[in-house]
Amino acid sequence: MPIDLTKPMAWTNASHEEQRLLRALQGNILKGHGRSETLNIFFTINEAQKHAMRAALRELANYHATSAYQQLLETQVFQATGKSGEPFVSIFVSAAGYSALDVPDGQIPDDPSFRLGQKAAAPGLNDEPVATWDPTFTSSRIDGMILIASENHTELRRKRDAVVNLLVKAGGTILGEQAGKQLFNAVSEGIEHFGYVDGRSQPLLLVEDIERESQDAGIANWDPSSNLGVALVADPGISDGVSFGSYFIFRKLEQDVRGFKRKEQELADELALTGKSRELAGAYAVGRFEDGTPVTMSSEPRGLTPPNDFNYNADSAGARCPFHAHIRKTNPRGSGGFGVPPQTEFKHLMARRGITYEDVPRVVHPTDIPPAESLADFDANVATLLPTGKVGLLFMAYNHDIGNQFEFTQKAWANNPGFPQVPAGTTPPGLDPVIGQGPASTQHWPKAWDKATQGTCPLSFQGFVKMRGGEYFFAPSLNFLKSL
Ligand code: HEM
Repeated sequence: MPIDLTKPMAWTNASHEEQRLLRALQGNILKGHGRSETLNIFFTINEAQKHAMRAALRELANYHATSAYQQLLETQVFQATGKSGEPFVSIFVSAAGYSALDVPDGQIPDDPSFRLGQKAAAPGLNDEPVATWDPTFTSSRIDGMILIASENHTELRRKRDAVVNLLVKAGGTILGEQAGKQLFNAVSEGIEHFGYVDGRSQPLLLVEDIERESQDAGIANWDPSSNLGVALVADPGISDGVSFGSYFIFRKLEQDVRGFKRKEQELADELALTGKSRELAGAYAVGRFEDGTPVTMSSEPRGLTPPNDFNYNADSAGARCPFHAHIRKTNPRGSGGFGVPPQTEFKHLMARRGITYEDVPRVVHPTDIPPAESLADFDANVATLLPTGKVGLLFMAYNHDIGNQFEFTQKAWANNPGFPQVPAGTTPPGLDPVIGQGPASTQHWPKAWDKATQGTCPLSFQGFVKMRGGEYFFAPSLNFLKSL
């Protein structure tokens, strides 16, 4: 039976072919690896030593890389015993890397955006100019990347030394190493540097994960069930019917935490919010409160496990969750307008696997930021505690089609002041306040939660996330890498 990409997979009940697929597929694609410390190692191939590099990649695939199957087994053990798995390793090759390895054109993944690379995409995405990116991403061509992840710092470093040794011995040049470390809130939910729970809403590709979500959180109002085709691509390097890979987006996104939290205070003052209710300002920008409560469901944080079973059907005026809020822009859940059915919007979603980074350690953890009663109070007592850069998110995502998923989301949704389509006579939403890039826009913020008749107040909110560099990669099947 050929692999069916139009449905999710029940991995604990996998057919013979599906088992072969899981052994050949790299981990982290069907489900996040779950480790809290990571290292991304970027390297260039010396074309004169391409045979040595092919051998090194074979060795990495045979002895170090984590297959989807191994990762899933380790997750089962972790859930049953709390014992975390081996260091996770994944191998990525860019279009330039395939050429440097002298792979025939017909065996190189052919997504047009992948072939051109992310530097070429930068102007269209309204990214910071490539010349201003971190040197790791500009000094030379990036041919490949190795992702290592572990719960244990010593094990991570040991694996790093083994991997770097292999690459360097094969004539590779290490361009840079980017560490990532997951931030958590007090109840162990992963958060990002602005302080908000992140990574909650994902397309789910495994039947087991869909069943758990259905039992624990519900899927009546938002069904995250996804088909394998959202991330998987038949590996053109090996045509055995069970070898799949996935396009991988890497973006180092720097966060100006002080600027963002200051803007939240400015908005809270504009909306005349006081005390705890000042948190509503940030929730209007993100679409969730810091604890993950969706603002379309509640005017205050509820302190529950972050819900995800919601849509915007009862919020067609954007009076609870503004149209421009980050999560409404990047997943309108059927409310995007333009007459498209929700299923059509779903195809733009992607498996996000980001992690926070701190190139310079923060003075104050995001959950310990003292509350402010006004913008003046913030400026006097809080502002200097917060970083203006050197921290952020390593945005990583697996795609089936880069142009239709990551690039579409960034360009046609986040950067598009006219999206979502709003009722006639209403002002356009403006940019996504978190990741929108482009000419400054003015968003309109509900003066009172769920009271559309009270109108909105204008305030321009954007520019606190900056692109520091990245690349498009392919995560080839292990079968292909072993055949190099
Ligand atoms: C520093 C940059 C970013 C920050 C701080 C950030 C923050 C967040 C937060 C707090 C959430 C809510 C948690 C959740 O629902 O999972 C979220 C969700 C999401 N973000 Fe981002 N994000 C960033 C970059 C991006 C980028 C570059 C994209 C895509 C172009 C993106 C797409 C999404 C999507 C699709 C969701 C889920 C929305 C949903 O399904 O409701 N984010 N993000």
